[in-house]
Amino acid sequence: MSDKKETTTALGLRGIKAADTAICTVGSEGKDLHYRGYSIEDLAEKSSFEEVSYLLLHGELPTKNQLEEWKGKLRAGRSIPEQLQNMLAKFPPTAHPMDILRTAVSTLGVYEPEPEGDSGYTTAVRLLGALPTMLGYWHLSNKGLPIPPSSDEDSHARYVMKMLTGKEPSEIEERMMDVALILYAEHEFNASTFTARVCASTLSDFYSCVTGAIGTLKGPLHGGANEKAYYLVSSFNSPEEAVEKVKEMLSRKEKIMGFGHAVYKIRDPRNEIIKSWAKKLSEEKGDMKFFNISEAIENLMWEEKKLFANLDFFAATAFHMAGIETPLFTPIFVFSRTSGWAAHIIEQRANNKLIRPRANYTGPSPRAYVTIDQR
Ligand SMILES: CC(C)(COP(=O)(O)OP(=O)(O)OC[C@H]1O[C@@H](n2cnc3c(N)ncnc32)[C@H](O)[C@@H]1OP(=O)(O)O)[C@@H](O)C(=O)NCCC(=O)NCCS
Repeated sequence: MSDKKETTTALGLRGIKAADTAICTVGSEGKDLHYRGYSIEDLAEKSSFEEVSYLLLHGELPTKNQLEEWKGKLRAGRSIPEQLQNMLAKFPPTAHPMDILRTAVSTLGVYEPEPEGDSGYTTAVRLLGALPTMLGYWHLSNKGLPIPPSSDEDSHARYVMKMLTGKEPSEIEERMMDVALILYAEHEFNASTFTARVCASTLSDFYSCVTGAIGTLKGPLHGGANEKAYYLVSSFNSPEEAVEKVKEMLSRKEKIMGFGHAVYKIRDPRNEIIKSWAKKLSEEKGDMKFFNISEAIENLMWEEKKLFANLDFFAATAFHMAGIETPLFTPIFVFSRTSGWAAHIIEQRANNKLIRPRANYTGPSPRAYVTIDQR
């Protein structure tokens, strides 16, 4: 009943702190992204995805021995049940890879339900290892390419590249992927992480939390932005054409994917890092077309709208220059963000309270029921 017509003061829950977390800080000024106290700049320069995923799940960076043990666990998680291999290989090549991953995670949960009473850790490790393999069984099988062996690749980034392209990556492609996995790993209460925490708060299982998170990540306002950014950039032949057409899009009030952010207001600290890798890869390949078009759009967006590129914008150029097909961009986000989702699911379970906000009712006041013959 809504005699008192209140307005919703936090549309999209902007600015609301929904829980405590010890995992990550995101500062609105764009100079403050830390995973468990370590700056994103330091992590991207000095560490690996294996170290970062360990940090997110354990709270501390690993020692050498701990890192080797962790890598062994990730490798062990790569093989997937034969029934799932066969199912994935039969899915249509026209499907979207995010739908494949969403279904694959849910199906793995059918074959290997989460162990009773586990914090979530066991399934987290299992999924981090298995996700690239699950995508590979669908993607590479559909192309008639062999599936690389799951056990003999030490580097997770290299394994990911092989599952995405069916080829051995160059050193620079492998390191770009490692850095991208670090940058995408965690981002506080973004929409997909919040989905995972809401699901965890009902005491549901780990696979359900991640399946829901993948569905949320797929949307173009969230993880799907990197794919859409590439379609935009690749629709132009020159920086000049890009500037002219993007100006027209802005005048029609269209959104440019890969720009803006719900929390950052001035810059996304991850952009500078991924942009430098997009540039390095473009220079190495001797093809600056996509990078130059992207940079022209970036400059225009700042001049016209004071909007800055987020991580997804130059990730599109970096992934494209590494030979990755466009629909596979957002799955990379899944391979990485599963470490952040896992840390949040475990944190939510450790101090759980069912997440259940209220709504501001704006519908009709109570009224008499009218029988169907009277309507
Ligand atoms: C991420 C995003 C949803 C956050 O936005 P938000 O804080 O909810 O802000 P809004 O969507 O309400 O946008 C506020 C204003 O900026 C504009 N704006 C925001 N992002 C824009 C973009 N990418 N392109 C053009 N205009 C944009 C909106 O049109 C709106 O303008 P208005 O006030 O004149 O109506 C938004 O910036 C967006 O849609 N970006 C594109 C998708 C994307 O890159 N997502 C990945 C995020 S990491």
